[in-house]
Amino acid sequence: MFNRRLRGQVLQWDALRHTDIQKKGNEGLCGRGASPIISHHYASPAATQNRRSFREIYRISLRLLPLLSPSDMLLIDLIESVYHSSYAAQWRFLIVENRTVPPKTVMEYPLNAPTVYPMKRYEQFADEIATLIREGVLGPGERIPSVRQASRHHGISPSTVFQAYYLLENRGLITARARSGYFVREHARRLLGEPRVTLQPNDPAEVEVSELVFSVLDSLQDDQTVPFGSAFPSPELFPLSRLATSMTRGLRELSPQQVVADMTTGHTDLCRQIALRYMLGGIQLPMEELVITNGAMEALNLALQCVTQPGDLVAVESPAFYASLQVLERLKLRAVEIPVHPREGVDLEVLAERLEALPIKACWFMSHLQNPLGASMSKERKQALYQLLKQHQVPMLEDDVYAELYFGSTPPTPVKAFDDEGLIIHCSSFSKCLAPGYRVGWVAGGRYAEAISRLKLMTTISPSVPAQAAIADYLQHGGYDRHLRKLRHALEAQQGSMLAAADRYFPAQTRITRPAGGYFLWVEFPEKIDSLRLFNMALDHGVSLAPGPIFSATQQFRHCVRLSYGHPWTQSSERGMETLGRLLALF
Ligand SMILES: Cc1ncc(COP(=O)(O)O)c(C=O)c1O
Repeated sequence: MFNRRLRGQVLQWDALRHTDIQKKGNEGLCGRGASPIISHHYASPAATQNRRSFREIYRISLRLLPLLSPSDMLLIDLIESVYHSSYAAQWRFLIVENRTVPPKTVMEYPLNAPTVYPMKRYEQFADEIATLIREGVLGPGERIPSVRQASRHHGISPSTVFQAYYLLENRGLITARARSGYFVREHARRLLGEPRVTLQPNDPAEVEVSELVFSVLDSLQDDQTVPFGSAFPSPELFPLSRLATSMTRGLRELSPQQVVADMTTGHTDLCRQIALRYMLGGIQLPMEELVITNGAMEALNLALQCVTQPGDLVAVESPAFYASLQVLERLKLRAVEIPVHPREGVDLEVLAERLEALPIKACWFMSHLQNPLGASMSKERKQALYQLLKQHQVPMLEDDVYAELYFGSTPPTPVKAFDDEGLIIHCSSFSKCLAPGYRVGWVAGGRYAEAISRLKLMTTISPSVPAQAAIADYLQHGGYDRHLRKLRHALEAQQGSMLAAADRYFPAQTRITRPAGGYFLWVEFPEKIDSLRLFNMALDHGVSLAPGPIFSATQQFRHCVRLSYGHPWTQSSERGMETLGRLLALF
C-alpha cells in the first residue's frame, strides 16, 4: 500500500488500554461514525510518575494527528519509561484500522524513538513574529509590539517575550533602539525586485554541460576564496563532534552479523528513523520502499536509470541543479526544459502542454526549495502536479535534499504525500542538513523500489554501514531537531545579511530571490552582464560564484548567478559582495 493520505481529529484523550479497545471497538468507544481515538497506555509505572514524559506523549500525539483518517485509530504505546532525566523514551506506534477487532496492524514501529526537544514557547513566539516579517505583514523599520503589549496579548510572561526578541535580534530580523523598543531591521527592505526567469523556447535537447560545470567546480576548490559559489553550507554549522560520538557508539553497538546483513537492506535503525520522520510528516511509508544510498545523488541516478532508456525524454526544471543535467548527459537522455517560477515552482501549464505533446518518460523536479531558485510550490500546486503525472502515468523523481532547511515552523509536504500509486520517487539525504561527507541518503522508491534496490546491489552494493550506524545513533540520541532549528536560524540570519549587502552593492536593476529556506539566492543582473566573465573576474579577486549557464541544458541565464549564503557572515563576506558590486560596474 502506498502513502494513504491521512487526517482526523481527537475525540477522546484518556488512558484507554488495549483491552478497552478490543472489547468495545471504535464505535463502542466513540459512537457511530468511527472517529479516531488516541490512547496512551503505560507499561511502566515510572513513566506515569514522570510528568515530562506525559507532556511528550501529548505533544507527539498531537503531531501524529494529521496522520489519521476518520477510519483510523491511533494507539500510542509507551513501552518503556523515560530514562535518565532526558526526554528520550522508547515508543511503539501502532496505527490500527477500526473495522478490525482485534485490530489489524497497518504499520508497526518497534523503535527507539529520536530524542524529542519540543520547541520552547519563546521559540514559537519568535517564529510567529519571523513569519509576519517574512510575509511583509511587519514591514522594514516598523515597530513590533512592546514587551508589555505582547505579554498581555499572547498571555505569556514578559521574560518569554524578551527571550523571543533576543532570539530575533540574533537572527538578524529585528533591532532594539534605546528607549523606543524593537523594530524590524531595515535590511529586510524589498528594494530589489524578483527575478523574471524567462526561458527561450526550445526543442528537446541533448545535454552537454559537463565541461562547463567541471571547469567551474574545479575553480571552487581554493579555500582562500569567499565561498559564494559553494554547494554546501559551512562545516561549522554541523554538529561534527557530536556525530563523532555517535560514530563511536554506533560502531560499538554494531553486531558482526549486522555489518554484513545491513549492506543489503540498509541499517535497520536508520531505516526506522527515516520512516518515522516520514510518518511525522504525514506519509505512511512501508519499510520495503526505502533504499539507503550513497547520498541523494546515487538515489537520483539509480532512479533515473530504472525509469528510462538512452534517448528518452526527461522533463527537467529550468534553471535546474547542474548535476541533474550531468546525469541526463551521462545516460544519453534528452532534456525537455520546463520553466520555474522563482516562488511558485515549476510551470504546470507548460508541463501539461509538454506532457500532452511529447513522449516524456520521467520528470526530475524539486517541489520545495528548488536549487537554484529556492522556489517552493504550494500544497495545492503540488497536488495539481501529482494529478497531472498520474493522468499521464509519468514517474517523477522528487529531489528533496533541502526538505529540512525551511524557515519558520511549518515543515513542507512533499508531492510524495499525495502519491497513491507509487509514481513518486522521493530522494533525499543528510548531506545538506546534518552530515556532509558521510554520504548517506535514501530513496523512497514507490513502485520502483525493488528495481532501484537491485540496481544498487549491482553497482555500489551499499553505503558504508558504520556511517549509517552513526547517523542512526545521532537521530536517536543527538538532538537532531534542536540542531535543525539552530541551523535554520543561522541560515535565515545569513540570508538577511546577504540580501542587505546585495541592496547596498548591486545595481538598482538587479533582481533577486528571497527563498523561505535553504542557502542560495538567484540573482538576475541587467542583460549586459555576462556571468561567465564575471565568474572569472571575481575568481581573480578571490570571490567564487556559480554562473547561470551551468544551470541550463541549453546554457541560458547568461546574466544570472547563484550565490550561497551557507557560511557565517563575516567581514570577508561583506568585502566579497562589495567586490562583486565593483566588478559589475565595469560592464
Ligand atoms: C538539488 C540537489 N540534489 C541533490 C544533491 C546531492 O546530494 P548528496 O550530496 O546527498 O548526494 C545536491 C547537492 O548539491 C543538490 O543540491
